[in-house]
Amino acid sequence: MKSIIIHGGAWNMPEKLDKPHLRGVEAACKVARDALLDGRGSLEAITDALVLLEEDTTFDAGVGSFLNAAGDVELDAGIMDGTTGDYACCGAVSKLRNPILACKRLLEVSPNKLLVCEGMHIFAREQGFTLIDNDDLKIEREIERYEGTKLPVASYFSPSDTVGAVAIDDGGHIVAANTTGGTPGKPSGRVGDSPLVGCGIYAGPHAGAAATGLGEPIIKTVLTKRVYDYYCESNDISRATSAGIRDLAHHGWGGVIALDKHGTPSACHNTTKMPHATWDEKSDKIEKKIGNPRC
Ligand code: GLY
Repeated sequence: MKSIIIHGGAWNMPEKLDKPHLRGVEAACKVARDALLDGRGSLEAITDALVLLEEDTTFDAGVGSFLNAAGDVELDAGIMDGTTGDYACCGAVSKLRNPILACKRLLEVSPNKLLVCEGMHIFAREQGFTLIDNDDLKIEREIERYEGTKLPVASYFSPSDTVGAVAIDDGGHIVAANTTGGTPGKPSGRVGDSPLVGCGIYAGPHAGAAATGLGEPIIKTVLTKRVYDYYCESNDISRATSAGIRDLAHHGWGGVIALDKHGTPSACHNTTKMPHATWDEKSDKIEKKIGNPRC
């Protein structure tokens, strides 16, 4: 069954931000639904949805992302294909407007699967992507946040508004992906969980998962691979996401979305909110929620 789940970050979000986050994940879910209904696969559906969110300045992804300690935007993104086990990811890129599209190309054409900084820029330019000025990713809100706070070193352990998605298409092909600007005030070169296989993303023949929240605790938990393994043991995707978040809680804060091979979605988090949206072929309804506190 065709199905999609999209997240828009996990953190203790103030109420005034609920609406734009819900609008964003709903719009991304519609785009992914339309791609699947047009007979395009889960990889296309997910990348269409995440490009929309990279372009939406509500979220910490693409344009409008948090600035790092040097006052620049550095982006991480990753995709994993559950059928082939292939993945493609990039870290700390500063000259790409839509890193998720460059990751899709990396997945399709390159034997090298994780490229960082200039290496990813060189690959992207060779593939015909335009390299942009980092200032093109900065918006007034984030410049003010940066200039106003001058974050102390420790404060990069802050919540984030990463976006991600998991989809399954008619062929039972599951894909998981994330794209993010990482944490505010992070040191240059810091890469979080979002692009990392087993941490921020995991997909296999039985399920797929994408995580969000603070990267370092998610990496320590190896969160999305745990969710996958819990699903394989229990055949219950809700139980699997709950167990993953129970493990994450030993280390820190975040959330995870997942789909099983039947298209059943689940979302769980230990932050107060995790905006997310789902659609499946059977109900043909887009449902959006600001969180799932009872998970
Ligand atoms: N989860 C986003 C980050 O820590 O970079």
